[in-house]
Parts: sequence; structure tokens; C-alpha cells
Amino acid sequence: MKRIHYLSGITITIFVVLHLSNHVYSLFGPNAHLDLMNDLRVVYRNIIAETILLFAVAIQIISGIRFVLKKRNSKSDFFGKLQIWTGLYLAFFLLIHVSAVLSGRLILNLDTNFYFGVAGLNTFPLNLFFMPYYGLAIISFSGHISAVHSKKMKSKLFGMGSIEQSYGIFIIGIILTLVILYGLTNGFHGVEIPKEYDIITGK
Ligand code: HEM
Repeated sequence: MKRIHYLSGITITIFVVLHLSNHVYSLFGPNAHLDLMNDLRVVYRNIIAETILLFAVAIQIISGIRFVLKKRNSKSDFFGKLQIWTGLYLAFFLLIHVSAVLSGRLILNLDTNFYFGVAGLNTFPLNLFFMPYYGLAIISFSGHISAVHSKKMKSKLFGMGSIEQSYGIFIIGIILTLVILYGLTNGFHGVEIPKEYDIITGK
């Protein structure tokens, strides 16, 4: 089970690195984000890659929840706790996020592009939910990787031990979160959302 969780985790991580790089690109404006997403979709939105990805997400959530239930009475250090809490948040987030994307595409017939992703983030009062919802997802992703790194990595890198490296990964994740939220909201000034997405903002 541990090995399966690790392998599906690596599959998801490859996608998430591409996905978050796409979001960082919003610093150059919505069109830059849309263009890069169109290119990246060739890689992940084909029947083979997407089936593997969605399977990996399902396996990750189920195996992760089983680990947490098994470990719930054992004591853990900072990174042990971080792994459990970030894993639980990611399970919650991935379930809702992937369901929302698939419903947007298959039920609402929307293009689930930049504007679909940021409609809630740029609409008051929905942004009061979407800021922490997305922010915690990116922080949890880096926190989960940093916790796994603290357990697996034993060697020094640039004179830093594995614990310092793990704190480094977590801090980079927090900075990345701020950068992405800044880009997706046009520097917190707001993005004009096209009318066709009114259905998700309730306008
Ligand atoms: C600011 C944060 C985020 C935003 C605005 C966002 C937005 C989006 C959008 C618009 C899509 C649809 C992509 C497409 O149609 O090509 C998508 C898909 C997806 N996202 Fe995110 N995302 C965010 C963070 C994350 C994080 C942190 C994860 C994972 C830890 C994640 C996992 C996924 C997955 C698995 C899909 C489904 C891919 C597919 O099957 O097409 N996202 N996201």
C-alpha cells in the first residue's frame, strides 16, 4: 500500500509541477496563462494521460485516508504531523477540485481554462472562500513533499541536513503560494471574468 501511495504520488507530482508552473505564468497576464495551458493540455488532456492521472488521484485519496486511520493513535514529530494534516487537506481539496473541473467541462460545457479557475478568486464574497481554499492547497502540497523528504533524504545538500532542506521546501511553497495568488488576481487588483462564467459566480 505504501509503495502504491508513493508511486501515485509521484504521478500526481509530475502533473502538479506543470500545473503550478502554468499558474505562475499568470504573472505575465491571462493570455500567457491561456497559451501555456493550451500547450500543456497536449501532454495531460489526452485519454491515456488523463485516465492515469485521475486513477492516481483516486488511489492517492483512498490509500492516504487509510494511512491516517491506521496511524491515528501513534505519536509523531513535526514532519509526521505535517504529513498527516497536509495529506488530509489535499484529499479534501483534490476531491472537490477535480469534481468541479470535470463538472464544469462535462455538465456546464465550459472551457475549464484560466477564467474558470480564477472566477471565484476574483469575485467578492466568493474570494473569501477561494483564497484560503487554493492557498492551503499549494501550501499543503509543498508541506506534504517536505515531510516525505525529511523521511527519505538522509544526505547533506549545500551543507544543509535533511531537516533544514525540508523546512526550505516548505518555505519555498509558502512563497510560491503568494506568487500564484498574486498572479491569478492581477496583483490583487482583480481580473475581469467573461460573461460565460457567470454561472459559477452566481452573477
Ligand atoms: C491556485 C490554485 C489552482 C487553480 C486556480 C487550479 C485550477 C485548475 C483548472 C482551471 C483546471 C482545469 C485544467 C484544464 O482544463 O486543462 C485544473 C485541473 C486540475 N487541478 Fe488544479 N488548480 C489549482 C491548484 C491545484 C493543486 C494545488 C492541485 C493538486 C495538489 C491541483 C490538481 C488538479 C488536478 C488533478 C486537475 C485535473 C486535471 C485534468 O484531469 O484535466 N490543482 N485546476
